Amino acid sequence: MDIQAAILVGAHQPFVVDEVQLEGPREGEVLVKIAASGVCHSDYHLVSGATKHPMPVVPGHEGAGVVVDVGPGVTRAKVGDHVVLNWAPDCGHCFYCMRGKPSLCETYIEPIWAGTMMDGTTRLKWRGQTTYHFSGLASFAEYAVVPQESCIVVRKDAPLAVAALVGCAVATGVGAAMYTAQVRPGESVVVIGCGGVGLNVLQGAALCGASTIIAVDTNPVKMEIARQFGATHTLLSSENVVDAIFDLTGGRGAEHAFEAVGVPALQELAFKAIRPGGTLTLAGLSPMGTGTNLPGAIITRQEKTIKGSYYGTINASRDFPLFLDLYMAGQLKLDELISKQYPLSQINEAYDAMLSGTVARGVVVFD
Ligand SMILES: NC(=O)c1ccc[n+]([C@@H]2O[C@H](COP(=O)([O-])OP(=O)(O)OC[C@H]3O[C@@H](n4cnc5c(N)ncnc54)[C@H](O)[C@@H]3O)[C@@H](O)[C@H]2O)c1
Ligand SMILES: [Zn+2]
Ligand SMILES: [Zn+2]
Repeated sequence: MDIQAAILVGAHQPFVVDEVQLEGPREGEVLVKIAASGVCHSDYHLVSGATKHPMPVVPGHEGAGVVVDVGPGVTRAKVGDHVVLNWAPDCGHCFYCMRGKPSLCETYIEPIWAGTMMDGTTRLKWRGQTTYHFSGLASFAEYAVVPQESCIVVRKDAPLAVAALVGCAVATGVGAAMYTAQVRPGESVVVIGCGGVGLNVLQGAALCGASTIIAVDTNPVKMEIARQFGATHTLLSSENVVDAIFDLTGGRGAEHAFEAVGVPALQELAFKAIRPGGTLTLAGLSPMGTGTNLPGAIITRQEKTIKGSYYGTINASRDFPLFLDLYMAGQLKLDELISKQYPLSQINEAYDAMLSGTVARGVVVFD
């Protein structure tokens, strides 16, 4: 079928919105009519070159929609189901899945990072060229063929634009607080970067009962938004931001810091903001191949912990429905995350707004 999609031809190029050809679902695959796809910074890493990927590629990995067709052998979803798409599908039986770490599942890593379906081939063509599916999803498109393993069926009474955000920003941010760092009641938390991910770390920390929640961002617009998501204090980035964090945490630093931008210098800064015995959780994706200087001498003597957080250490099958239940019960703010909705034709404007730091989350919506 001919559909409209956003295509990236190479790094440092704008998104091109054009017609692409999408083949129907093969064995074990599902055709999803995409309702919404969030404007996450991880897609932009393909534009900046921070993440390497075969091109041309249809990006978009924070999507939700309705199942309209299934290939042979599909058991995980049926026509009419509402699905949130999982960009790191898990198999349930590999080394990591068996050890309770499905976000590290090793079974599908190769095809997912090759930008193909599980059989190593793609269903997309643009101007006659083989075109790749980012994260096996390619959700910046009217329709997507995805592996059934990437489909998490969710309740139908949750709006699909909200459900889309559960597929990345909410899972990554709330999960980082709840599962990776395991914030406990009364603890102090600092979050560097208040984009879609950081705002969800803030509300995740609040949900876990943190009492002092400090939000740091370069953009003054984010100060007010951060308070809406549970920040008790907000700080504009400055040279003495670490001193300001110490002032707010009894002179010791915070129990938890989260880096939610993806910049090595900010990871180092976040490390300085934690107290002895404290934990730094890295949720931002710094460019592939870069390094971060963290002082081993202090880590040992002050028993500091550094944790990586990939997809919020979630279990998507358990947590996508859970996060939507928490939203429906009024315990997670997801409507407030959506600052602006865009048609696909305005995807470049949507990314400009993300880069300017003025929106909580933009969402591309389809009819
Ligand atoms: N770990 C994971 O599994 C995972 C999943 C999704 C996204 N990510 C990554 O998380 C990061 C954030 O994603 P996002 O979609 O929230 O991005 P975003 O662009 O929406 O938000 C980034 C925020 O950081 C702020 N910022 C920029 N420079 C800053 C600085 N020097 N000091 C303080 N704040 C600063 C911006 O103003 C903005 O508010 C990205 O690197 C993204 O790739 C990681
Ligand atoms: Zn697995
Ligand atoms: Zn994302």
